[in-house]
Amino acid sequence: MRTYVVTGGAGFIGSNYIHYMFKKYGDEIRIINVDKLTYAGNLENLKDVENRDNYTFIKADVCDAEAINKIFEENDVQRVVHFAAESHVDRSIKNPTVFVETNVLGTLVMLNAAKAAWELPDGTFKPDHKFLHVSTDEVYGSLSNPNDYFYETTKYDPHSPYSASKASSDFMVKAFMDTYKFPANITNCSNNYGPYQFPEKLIPLTINNALHGRKLPIYGDGKNIRDWLYVEDHAKGIDMVQEKGRLFETYNIGGHNERQNIQIVKTIIKTLQELLPDDDPRKANVSEDLITYVTDRKGHDRRYAIAPDKIKAEVGWYPETCFEDGIKKTVKWYLEHQEWMDHCISGDYQKYYDDMYKNR
Ligand code: NAD
Ligand code: TYD
Repeated sequence: MRTYVVTGGAGFIGSNYIHYMFKKYGDEIRIINVDKLTYAGNLENLKDVENRDNYTFIKADVCDAEAINKIFEENDVQRVVHFAAESHVDRSIKNPTVFVETNVLGTLVMLNAAKAAWELPDGTFKPDHKFLHVSTDEVYGSLSNPNDYFYETTKYDPHSPYSASKASSDFMVKAFMDTYKFPANITNCSNNYGPYQFPEKLIPLTINNALHGRKLPIYGDGKNIRDWLYVEDHAKGIDMVQEKGRLFETYNIGGHNERQNIQIVKTIIKTLQELLPDDDPRKANVSEDLITYVTDRKGHDRRYAIAPDKIKAEVGWYPETCFEDGIKKTVKWYLEHQEWMDHCISGDYQKYYDDMYKNR
């Protein structure tokens, strides 16, 4: 039985990945989820797997070398999938420090721990032990020519403190691969959407605000472009890269699904209007009149777009969920999980929201 350490498994993509892996492998694998449970970590995301015999949760900070080393000493970990990170660009603009701590130092701690556990006396590594570092397309910067795409060979050009910290962590993983032949892969994925995404990000924030009849903030002119991927397709891509990809390689994950932010917001409004029954009092709130253009994000990248040619050719991965289906599934999920959303927006969320959007 293969044992996985999944960091950040209580967050948006990590929890979807854990669901995907248990759906695919059942009792053939064991997962140890290591998560600090920051504001973005939520064990409610994993309610339906928490009682499995082959699932363990450990509350730990990836920067805590002692705690992380202990996990490797006590378990024969064969796979690491490293999601844990501070992930929100707007927060990184307000407070970059924690992004360097978790994303850069935390990644180094994970690499050191896996290397110490897996390295053999002759400097090679235990066979079939692998580390996958989950990263973002934002490390490549912003595209200005409409015919350009991000390839694995595109030069890194990060702009936000978030993307700079992810780029630094990618370089540290590359350094381990180049220096020690440490068995790893890096994936750089485009924007994800789907269930369990914290409502600081565009799609869940828009759904939640629209249902409450609150303004829908659009930064700048609303024409910035992101390349959206349904989260389960990302989870599948990570697993396929780890099992079928060539070691030491980077794979871009994305699905040629570019949309302007304003298109995304309008699609959500339309989908909510379609899915909400006429007798639901929230339906009256949902209208394009809520759209409000606000001051742009500082240093706002204009366009991201992935060329997924390499992962398609080498690994056979392709995105299965088209945007029309994915956004419908996503909106439906949020409508059916109002209680989950209510828990997210209680506590510190209101303060975050006021800090970020009041007088903007
Ligand atoms: P998220 O913010 O929803 O979740 C992050 C998780 O990491 C949370 O559970 C949090 O508690 C945990 N965490 C944070 N700091 C930690 C620490 N110091 N120690 C242990 N755990 C810690 O993020 P997400 O959107 O699920 O993103 C997961 C990963 O995927 C990140 O590395 C991110 O850079 C990358 N990524 C995200 C997207 C996207 O669209 N969301 C796209 C490409 C890549
Ligand atoms: P976001 O979901 O924060 O992801 P990222 O910045 O990592 O791409 O934002 C997606 C896009 O939506 C980005 O161009 C910023 C924009 N945006 C808004 O216009 N309004 C909002 O309230 C938020 C959160 C984002």
